[in-house]
Amino acid sequence: MNRTGRYRLGVLGSGKGSNMTAIAEACAAGKIPGEIAVVISDVADAGILQNARKFGVAAEFIAPGKYRTKLDEDSERTYLERLRAEEVDLVVLAGFMRILKGEFLRAFANRVVNIHPSLLPAFPGLEAWKQALDHGVKVTGCTVHFVDQGVDNGPIIAQEAVPVLEDDTPETLHARIQVAERQLYPTAIGALAEGRITVKGRRVLWKR
Ligand code: GAR
Repeated sequence: MNRTGRYRLGVLGSGKGSNMTAIAEACAAGKIPGEIAVVISDVADAGILQNARKFGVAAEFIAPGKYRTKLDEDSERTYLERLRAEEVDLVVLAGFMRILKGEFLRAFANRVVNIHPSLLPAFPGLEAWKQALDHGVKVTGCTVHFVDQGVDNGPIIAQEAVPVLEDDTPETLHARIQVAERQLYPTAIGALAEGRITVKGRRVLWKR
């Protein structure tokens, strides 16, 4: 725990920020015993930054550098410095569309979590809801997991199933998955903040 005595979250996102909003609301309602210290985006005009400011949370754009799918070295260092300066206990990826690697994951070992819009290990990568629809599965969902060196690969903390309907479009399916995400992510982060989560190899155990 940092010197504030509060469990502090650093949220990274590239999109509209509906997960961040659900997390901020859960903090305000005491469902997560902690607070969002900072929201950082790699997209200057991302909705997540505007939404964070509505909650009075510090929100910053940090340029990602020269690559398309990851942060370059200088940028990764800047993200790290910012999160460390805020004494963040947990890094929460909420629609952050870049891969984090080496130095970053070592600095926050076992303290980076992500939400992915499928039941992993099915459909890792981009537009997982579209992959599910194209594959023809009848059930998909969302997964909260620890982030490791692999893509959408770390130990699974929580999952929620969502049915695929016959008249679903990519948009309607993603919207239904996002309803489940807004419940699942705050619940998982709350349990982490309360110290109710332990990891044994690939298995994540909850103290209920
Ligand atoms: C969420 O559906 C999340 O699962 C997905 O991006 C969306 C962000 O929405 N993440 C990924 O696809 C990561 N591979 P939000 O900005 O409204 O929270």
